[in-house]
Amino acid sequence: MPVVKIEEGKNYAYCTCGHSETTPFCDGSHAEKGGGRPLRFKGESSGDVALCGCGKSSNKPYCDGSHNN
Ligand code: FES
Repeated sequence: MPVVKIEEGKNYAYCTCGHSETTPFCDGSHAEKGGGRPLRFKGESSGDVALCGCGKSSNKPYCDGSHNN
């Protein structure tokens, strides 16, 4: 559950392949290493937000607490 600062209206790419060295954000490694494509999202409001770090959230890129199950 990495907590990151995001800005309202800014576009982000959330890594879904697990190869990024800048997780939870995509760094383009998927193009070489395969395994998925980034999930693009726009910041809904500025501030801290918990993104999914375990892959279990059903509300990606956001954490929904599934890591506790
Ligand atoms: S590096 Fe993982 S989706 Fe782009």
